[in-house]
Amino acid sequence: MSHRNEATAALKALSIATDACRECPLGAHATQSVFGEGPVGAVLMVVGEQPGDKEDLAGRPFIGPAGKLFDRAVAELGWSRERLYVTNAVKHFKYELRGKRRIHKTPGQREVEACHHWLESEIEHVQPHAFIALGATAARALLGRPVPVMKARGQWHDDAQGRRVLVTLHPSALLRGDPEQREAAWKAWLADLRVASPLMKNRKDETAAESPARRPAAAAHARRRVRMVME
Ligand code: URA
Repeated sequence: MSHRNEATAALKALSIATDACRECPLGAHATQSVFGEGPVGAVLMVVGEQPGDKEDLAGRPFIGPAGKLFDRAVAELGWSRERLYVTNAVKHFKYELRGKRRIHKTPGQREVEACHHWLESEIEHVQPHAFIALGATAARALLGRPVPVMKARGQWHDDAQGRRVLVTLHPSALLRGDPEQREAAWKAWLADLRVASPLMKNRKDETAAESPARRPAAAAHARRRVRMVME
């Protein structure tokens, strides 16, 4: 089996395993887990917080209102979602019931930490070259420290292992924002995301067979190339 097929099969197995995960209480109340989607070797891994109501029902990330806004941004930027690996810091939907409605609840740090090894496994198999953190939960999960999103937005940040993370707002922050500020908030969000555009334009996605992780000798060179594009 090719490395790409091996990694894709490993991701599928991980997805099934997250569904059975009860390392925190969330799995018992959700419909199913929502694992990441996208190609092995994607240049960018986009990380959100946790699935919402629609995602929980469909089992796919970012397909509800926040996902639609993200798709609009992707189109506006001339990117293609098929080339991104899109996932969440937490794989199960956390909510509280109000009547029949399931209202999103922000996951606690304990839940994010319990889920972290699933995200790390995804990263290991996808081997993205850089990350986009949508919101504070994703930024903290990726960078391993609390991140003041409004200050950090639109810039690349390094984690302790030298991974590069572009931080910006979660799309639901835009949906919740002041309607009068919506246009300005949308433009500012696009400007943040556009910081990653050189990567989407200048790089071909790598197959797992070509991935630097599989060819350690090439890893430093690949990182240097990515940095040159980013800086
Ligand atoms: N919000 C997220 O953070 N992730 C999703 O998949 C959907 C909404």
